[in-house]
Amino acid sequence: MTATEEAANNLTVVDHPLVAHKITKLRNDQTDSSAFRSLCQEVTLLTAYEALRHLPTEQVSVTTPLTTTEAPRLAGPAPAIVGILRAGLVMVEAILTLIPHGRVGHLGLYRDPETHRPIEYYKKLPEDIHTRKILLVDPMLATGGSAVHALDVLTEAGGTDIDLLSIIGCPEGVAAVHDTYPDTRITLAALDQRLNEQAYIVPGLGDAGDRIYGTK
Ligand code: PRP
Ligand code: URA
Repeated sequence: MTATEEAANNLTVVDHPLVAHKITKLRNDQTDSSAFRSLCQEVTLLTAYEALRHLPTEQVSVTTPLTTTEAPRLAGPAPAIVGILRAGLVMVEAILTLIPHGRVGHLGLYRDPETHRPIEYYKKLPEDIHTRKILLVDPMLATGGSAVHALDVLTEAGGTDIDLLSIIGCPEGVAAVHDTYPDTRITLAALDQRLNEQAYIVPGLGDAGDRIYGTK
C-alpha cells in the first residue's frame, strides 16, 4: 500500500529504520522480558510522534531571554490515553512521558482461548472522556475484536475523536476496525502478513502480554 492509499484508509505504518530495528528485536524469541518492555516503550514513543500529529495547537505569547514572540502550545483539554490491559499498560506509561498532563483510562480485556473474542473484566475511564481526544493503545491488533470492543465502550462513553496506536497489526485487524469505525485513524509500527489458526499474528512477536510480564 502506498503512503497516499494509507492516508485515504486512515492507516499509517511508520516507516523508519530505528522503528524497524527495534521491531526486529521485539520479534526475536531470545529477547527477555526486561528488554521486551523497554523496546515496547521505545517503539511507542517513536510511533506516538506520528499518532499524535493531529493534536490541536493554539498560539500563545512567550517571552524568551531575547524577545517576546507568538508560539504554539497544545490546545484544549488534555488527551485521554486509554490502555487495553494488560499489554497496553507499557504503552500508556511511555505516552505519559510525552504528555504528562494526559488523563488515563484502563480497559481490561482478554481473548477467550476458544473463540478469540474479547472478554471485558475491568473498566475505569476519565469521567469527562467525551470532552477529550482519545488515544487508544494496545501493542497487538490481531482479529481486531479487542480494539472494536474498546471503540464500542469509548463511543458509548461519548468519545468522538478516537485514534488507535498499536505496535503490530495485520490486514484482518485493520479491516475489522475500519468496517465498524472507518474514521478511526490507526497508526502501526509494522503491518504483518496474516493471522494463523490460533488468531496470532504471523510473523508477529508471540503473546505480547506474556512477553512483557514474563508469565509464560
Ligand atoms: C492481546 C493483545 C490485544 C489482543 C489482540 O491481549 O494485547 O489486547 O490480544 O487480539 P485481537 O485483536 O484478536 O482482539 P490478550 O487477550 O492476550 O490479553 P493480555 O494482554 O492480558 O495478555
Ligand atoms: N495477541 C498477542 O499478544 N499476539 C498476537 O499475535 C495476537 C493477539
